[in-house]
Amino acid sequence: MGWFTSFLYSQFFVTLPEPIKDFSGQTVIVTGSNTGLGLEAARHLSRLNATLIILAVRNKGKGEAAKESILASTNRQETSIEVWDLDMQSYESIKAFCTRASTLPRLDAVIENAGIMTKYFKIVGGYESTITTNVIGTFLLVLGLLPKLKQSAKDFNIQPRLSIVSSDLHFIAKFPERHSEDIFDALNDEKSEMSMERYAVSKLLEVFGVRELASMMTKDSKPDSPSVIVNCMTPGACKSDFHRENSSIGGIIQSILDALIARTTEAGSRTLVAGIAAGEESHGAYMADCKIGEPGSLVLGTDGKALQETVWDQLIRQLEIIQPGISKNI
Ligand SMILES: NC(=O)c1ccc[n+]([C@@H]2O[C@H](COP(=O)([O-])OP(=O)(O)OC[C@H]3O[C@@H](n4cnc5c(N)ncnc54)[C@H](OP(=O)(O)O)[C@@H]3O)[C@@H](O)[C@H]2O)c1
Ligand SMILES: *[C@@H]1O[C@H](CO)[C@@H](O)[C@H](O)[C@H]1NC(C)=O
Ligand SMILES: *[C@@H]1O[C@H](CO)[C@@H](O)[C@H](O)[C@H]1NC(C)=O
Repeated sequence: MGWFTSFLYSQFFVTLPEPIKDFSGQTVIVTGSNTGLGLEAARHLSRLNATLIILAVRNKGKGEAAKESILASTNRQETSIEVWDLDMQSYESIKAFCTRASTLPRLDAVIENAGIMTKYFKIVGGYESTITTNVIGTFLLVLGLLPKLKQSAKDFNIQPRLSIVSSDLHFIAKFPERHSEDIFDALNDEKSEMSMERYAVSKLLEVFGVRELASMMTKDSKPDSPSVIVNCMTPGACKSDFHRENSSIGGIIQSILDALIARTTEAGSRTLVAGIAAGEESHGAYMADCKIGEPGSLVLGTDGKALQETVWDQLIRQLEIIQPGISKNI
């Protein structure tokens, strides 16, 4: 089955399993959890008795409203949810967030869900804003939280998990920038194709990043078992605020797509919970429909591994500029 047939099959026929894993005792961070998939994933975690859920959001008011909404539906204690500031387009905000997270007694899991798609080319923090948010900021946060996750693994004899919300759309990335000497510089060309293509590239870079990071984390570990599990997943097409800008494919077509095939955010959010409920077989994997799936052809093709290493080398170089020494966190 081609990816699109699989995608349609999944949207029409797959009923995602309701999350049932018990999260009691656990502290979980969910980014972009004031709305959409992040909010519904946090609601599941609250129902599943997570001891502390941190809603990592850029708008405190929206975060507090999300907290109220969750507590109203789960009847959990007020102290089981905290709202923390996190702006994925500000490296200072991400660093401050990681510093704050380092003071937590423990950290069991992280869902990196915050992400954008935009048709407007804009440079933020040195990169085109989709790349800043979905790739640079996302991996700055991954590496910034790794020490705390590793520490928790040791202190509590647990295997913490970190899952990045990627997308099926990574399958359609054309990614011509991969032929450039400097990929991130090429992505900063204001003539480049935005919207769906740029978004798809950002989600492909997430898949590459997760695979390479995972393999680095297990390279030297004996036995071959990661102290922290890192994976990525797709929620499938879901109705959310995601197409908040006038949709790149046209408002009417978007509405028809939403009505015909899109999942509710609650259904889609089950895949986010599955990402941090999966075991070490998911380390480095791309998950779809709450199971381990196969990523796109640029990843699995003959040049995939080489491209993955190139992407990672260049990504780490950018992150080292933003936070010197950060690669030692791996
Ligand atoms: N919906 C889909 O069909 C679909 C399909 C595949 C993958 N995804 C992925 O799923 C994730 C969640 O999307 P969604 O559908 O739930 O969309 P959404 O309703 O637009 O939610 C996106 C969340 O990310 C937050 N966010 C965006 N930029 C941020 C920043 N700079 N700093 C902090 N938070 C930021 C938003 O906060 P604000 O409310 O403050 O803007 C919001 O909470 C994204 O990574 C998306 O790529 C979605
Ligand atoms: C959560 O805790 C409640 C109250 O102790 C219990 O009834 C429920 O079964 C727990 N849920 C899970 C998923 O363990
Ligand atoms: C949507 O399109 C209208 C009309 O072209 C425009 O005025 C508005 O700024 C657009 N909104 C966004 C968020 O792009």
